[in-house]
Amino acid sequence: MHGYADLPEHSGGVTVIMQTSRASVIRLGVIGTGQFASYFIAALRRGGYDGNVLLSPRNADVANTLAHKHDCVVAASAEEVLAGSDVVLLSVRPEYAEAALANLRWERRHTVLSAMAGIRLDELRALLHGVDDIHLIMPGSYIETVPGPIPLYPPAPALMPLLSCAGDVIALPNEAAFNAAMVSLCTSTWIYDLAHALAAELERHGLEPDAARALTLGNIAGPASFALSQPETSLLEISAGIATERTFTKDGLDHLKARHFASPWREAIGQLAERLKPGE
Ligand SMILES: NC(=O)c1ccc[n+]([C@@H]2O[C@H](COP(=O)([O-])OP(=O)(O)OC[C@H]3O[C@@H](n4cnc5c(N)ncnc54)[C@H](OP(=O)(O)O)[C@@H]3O)[C@@H](O)[C@H]2O)c1
Repeated sequence: MHGYADLPEHSGGVTVIMQTSRASVIRLGVIGTGQFASYFIAALRRGGYDGNVLLSPRNADVANTLAHKHDCVVAASAEEVLAGSDVVLLSVRPEYAEAALANLRWERRHTVLSAMAGIRLDELRALLHGVDDIHLIMPGSYIETVPGPIPLYPPAPALMPLLSCAGDVIALPNEAAFNAAMVSLCTSTWIYDLAHALAAELERHGLEPDAARALTLGNIAGPASFALSQPETSLLEISAGIATERTFTKDGLDHLKARHFASPWREAIGQLAERLKPGE
């Protein structure tokens, strides 16, 4: 990786670590200019990445929109993307990966970031002759607007200046953990449906739709931010500290627990995790 060096600097007797490199020196290329590329690039720009982005030309509509909105350049070919970039994002749909990557000339200097769900690292190695540095990422589409987790495997200190622009990098220790992170991304979408059900029920009991939506989403986002701000406290401890005896909150929670509310969620997670196991 180029342009990433941490140099100690002395200031007033205190040694501080200066991150002298900036993400902008990383030239990003994209093979597969679609929905994922759109929100990932938007997130990088939102977070301050101002380096070059070179897009594969297929899907001219999306490529031109990205060029216009996020200061990207549309390359003439995938070969041109590779020639002009250091880090290459692979974001074609998995079924098109082989065709998209066939006959490309990779160089050792390339670092590859694959967002192609379900394509394992060993499969990528077979497709990317000559590339040593291959990583999997799986952020959700909401990062276009707000920072969120960026699951990454294998960990890559050199990519932190770039990826940190898009959100909070969660570096995972093995591919099984990365697959579980991919299931977690699926659960983030289920939350919309859960929120819809909660808001609809609140409407039935007197709230206007706008208020029901704002209260429901705020009461999901608020606890999430609160719990993230105190990683030392378990989620059940936080809940128990609020849902104390003789509170309305505890009455409702007891009802949900008696109905085993977590069971279908656990089952759905289990089913997807099984499907993502190697050989499935
Ligand atoms: N969208 C999400 O929320 C999300 C979330 C996590 C991960 N992902 C992953 O991101 C990847 C892309 O998904 P997506 O939703 O962004 O799909 P998409 O919108 O269809 O984008 C894929 C893009 O790849 C282009 N493409 C197809 N064949 C190509 C080739 N041979 N060379 C260059 N480009 C080619 C397509 O062009 P055409 O339209 O002209 O075919 C399309 O613009 C998938 O592997 C998916 O698993 C997506």
